[in-house]
Amino acid sequence: MTQREGPGVPQLDFDVFDSAQTHEMWDLMAAFRRQGAVAPIRGDFVYVSHYAEARAILRDEETYSNVGGMRPTGLEIPLRDASIGELGPPVHVPARKLATTAAQGGGVLKRARPFVRATTDELIAPIAERGSGDLIGEYALPITAQVIGWLLGMPKADCAQLAEWAEEIMVSELTVTNRTERGEGYSGAFPEFTEYLEGMVEECLAGAGSGDDTISRILAAPAEGIERSVPNVRMVLLNLVLGGTATTRDLIGNLLLEILSAPDLYVALFEDRELIPAAIEESLRLAPPVLYLIRTCTRAVELVGVKLAAGQRVVVGVASANRDEEVYEDAERFRVDRANLAPHLSFGYGQHFCVGAPLARLEAQSAVESFLDLFPPGSARLAPGFECEWMPLPYMLGPVRIDIEGLPPVD
Ligand code: HEM
Repeated sequence: MTQREGPGVPQLDFDVFDSAQTHEMWDLMAAFRRQGAVAPIRGDFVYVSHYAEARAILRDEETYSNVGGMRPTGLEIPLRDASIGELGPPVHVPARKLATTAAQGGGVLKRARPFVRATTDELIAPIAERGSGDLIGEYALPITAQVIGWLLGMPKADCAQLAEWAEEIMVSELTVTNRTERGEGYSGAFPEFTEYLEGMVEECLAGAGSGDDTISRILAAPAEGIERSVPNVRMVLLNLVLGGTATTRDLIGNLLLEILSAPDLYVALFEDRELIPAAIEESLRLAPPVLYLIRTCTRAVELVGVKLAAGQRVVVGVASANRDEEVYEDAERFRVDRANLAPHLSFGYGQHFCVGAPLARLEAQSAVESFLDLFPPGSARLAPGFECEWMPLPYMLGPVRIDIEGLPPVD
């Protein structure tokens, strides 16, 4: 498919900040893709709907900068309050290194495996005993809060509070303007959480760390170009919390919802656990927890025939690119037998590729295994009358709750 010439490209009636549209956009996205790769949309954005162009943009940080993210143009964010995803050179690379050290280094994934499995087993047990429950509030959400809490070295008793803080931050103005009514930056707007995390860093600096815990590893990581001050380490920890809780909750929720809605898939996964990784990739592809990413043109550029001025904000349509018919045969269908499962863009692409992807996949794998162990096919279903409601953030996709009820065993 090729893009029609620049000025002739009509504006499309799509608002990326309207969750009523973004959560139900599949037909609209298919229409976008038929029209071409790039189209102006509401709010002075252009939307990129094809896979090849979306990936090329994410790879070309020099032309399509992530700096600024969704913030108002020109707003300067101090490093201690930044999201690593919105950092550019030179500080991005060392900051990313610290986050990667925390989420992937020092054998952490190997150590996480038994902890994650024990957590998913423990959380599903009371739901199975009762025969009913909410797989988001009682399962997906606490799994992610306890795993990130474990990663940071928090006591388990504090993890519910961690989830609440993370949720409050995610829906607050802080992520856009870096302030709320309460104050500026994390320390002004969320002082309790900031003090909690800084207290952990200070304790570690005072010698309480084991040397092998996440904060010790961040402090000791060989990354030049970033001062290991308490606020900077707290920034890395916050990125793990905010990057790793709601997103993974949504992945687990979207996948469990698919399993409960598709009896054939439910049976296939129960009978062959080796299909679970493929199901995770298909869920990520068709229901990406992060629906789109925003970049800003650093210079005038032409993208498949459409002229973009310096400063133009570009919405990289992850959700649409993942269903691009040029890349995926039978693109709208959930198929665990695809040859090309992994190239979806749900963890991003290029310099900012998600540092928590292996941990998120591990959590999803364990969540599905524990669920299938206690709820074999035919033993649970979506509660009668259940209708999926999506979390309100327009750039994210995940169910608010998944009510299930157990079914009596069939002889
Ligand atoms: C299913 C779960 C997850 C999804 C869908 C997801 C999605 C993403 C995406 C799309 C990006 C790229 C952002 C961009 O290019 O602008 C990203 C970056 C990032 N993610 Fe994740 N993420 C998930 C889980 C996690 C976890 C578990 C952690 C932490 C343990 C994490 C930490 C980060 C960090 C720190 C970055 C910034 C990387 C950089 O800019 O260099 N994410 N994630």
